[in-house]
Amino acid sequence: TLTTLLLLLAAYLLGSLSGSLLLGRLRGVDIRQHGSGNAGGTNALRTQGWKFALGTVLVDVGKGVLAAWLALRFGGGEAWLPYAAAAAAILGHVYPVFHGFRGGKGAGTLVGALLVAWPVSVVVLIGAWLLVLTATGYVGLSTILAGAALVPFALLTDAPASRLVFAVGVALFLAYTHRSNIARLRAGTESRFERVRIWAR
Ligand code: G3P
Repeated sequence: TLTTLLLLLAAYLLGSLSGSLLLGRLRGVDIRQHGSGNAGGTNALRTQGWKFALGTVLVDVGKGVLAAWLALRFGGGEAWLPYAAAAAAILGHVYPVFHGFRGGKGAGTLVGALLVAWPVSVVVLIGAWLLVLTATGYVGLSTILAGAALVPFALLTDAPASRLVFAVGVALFLAYTHRSNIARLRAGTESRFERVRIWAR
């Protein structure tokens, strides 16, 4: 229906509002030209400091919350629509129409959308993410594995079809958006946050 299309379009446009790139415009910096080149919270922290990173994460998580909430509230009870809106917002974040289609990797926006669409999964997502991060210090690897953990969790909890499809799609897409991280990990050149490695020192 028209409402469905408008909700998905709104989700994509919301997703296209990149926290790091909008804040960067205020500061006169494009973080895609620094650090890992990624327009996300991790590279914001790496290259601009914690306040800029916090602002980035709030915008990127917040737009995921809003996109999924709009779909839940105005979607006429279609169970799959919050997941479709989540996917549209994530695609907006990774391919933002307002920033030359070069955005981030989708993790923050995913967390925001899941807070609305599938709240309990955020515990699994953040739990797996913290476990890998505190063991290895690699943010990208932590995000890839946390995303992958959604698939067994969906299977173990008897997720409805749209949720399972979303989990599988997200796991694959996060691995794809983190392909540069995978290449750097294999080459031994991925940047590492040594100070968070609480198990390995
Ligand atoms: O999701 C983790 C991702 O943000 C990693 O970013 O800058 O290390 O490629 P970066």
